[in-house]
Amino acid sequence: MNAPGRSQAHGPEPVQGEGAPVSAPERAPLLKVRGLSAGYGGMLALHEASFEIHAAELVALVGSNGAGKTTLLRALSCVLPCSGSIEFDGQELVGMTPDQAFGRGLVQMPEGRQLFDRMSVQDNLLMGAHRRRGQAAIARDLERMYAMFPVLSRRRRQLAGSMSGGEQQMCAMARALMAAPRLLLVDEMSLGLAPVVVQQLMDVLESIRRDGVTILLVEQDVQLALASADRGYVLETGRIVLEGTARQLIDDPAVQDAYLGL
Ligand SMILES: Nc1ncnc2c1ncn2[C@@H]1O[C@H](COP(=O)(O)OP(=O)(O)O)[C@@H](O)[C@H]1O
Ligand SMILES: [Mg+2]
Repeated sequence: MNAPGRSQAHGPEPVQGEGAPVSAPERAPLLKVRGLSAGYGGMLALHEASFEIHAAELVALVGSNGAGKTTLLRALSCVLPCSGSIEFDGQELVGMTPDQAFGRGLVQMPEGRQLFDRMSVQDNLLMGAHRRRGQAAIARDLERMYAMFPVLSRRRRQLAGSMSGGEQQMCAMARALMAAPRLLLVDEMSLGLAPVVVQQLMDVLESIRRDGVTILLVEQDVQLALASADRGYVLETGRIVLEGTARQLIDDPAVQDAYLGL
């Protein structure tokens, strides 16, 4: 165990990944949220949430329908007025406009996709990059998206609204990635999609995470979210009631009972 005074012991320090757990490196988190509250017309839907996400972590935020997950994401994106503190890479976001938060690399992939239905797939993807400079880099990223999602490449001139639900969700993810996110907020990506499509989207999330993108994955499908996440938080009626590593949450009898159907 990591007992106090351990540093006085002789011999080499333990190697991470072997033997007793070593506490997380003391880096500043990329996102540090303290006492975040938000709501609608005087009714609070999120109460004093505090949590943090480190760079390149994949963190799951799970909870039932109506728990306040989307409210929390909308507060982070500065779409919804809120109180408390949202420190992103050392900067306070509370009080910023959604565009300012977006400009700092906080990008939301919204619930229900919200594509521009009457625009082509390609124009939707380019909308994601509307704030970026550098045509060459944007063109390169566009080709990267088409390599990751070949179905979008074949349909690049098709109207986004005319595609299947799964294709639209791929388009929504690719559009979000075109913004070059530092922190990607993913809201209910799996809802209503076939498992094979969900797996394809999860594979892309895991690959961009390996490239250094930090991800907050909001899901009602707790099993799916915890299978890929490093850590997770459980939200119930607007309050964070549990947190831990994905393994700790999967093994938690309360989580198993309420969310995993075990
Ligand atoms: N636009 C809105 N106006 C009023 N109440 C809302 C609005 N959006 C959400 N709510 C309420 O806020 C609570 C949390 O909702 P939401 O954040 O959408 O939950 P989740 O995403 O976890 O399903 C719910 O009680 C919901 O009815
Ligand atoms: Mg929601």
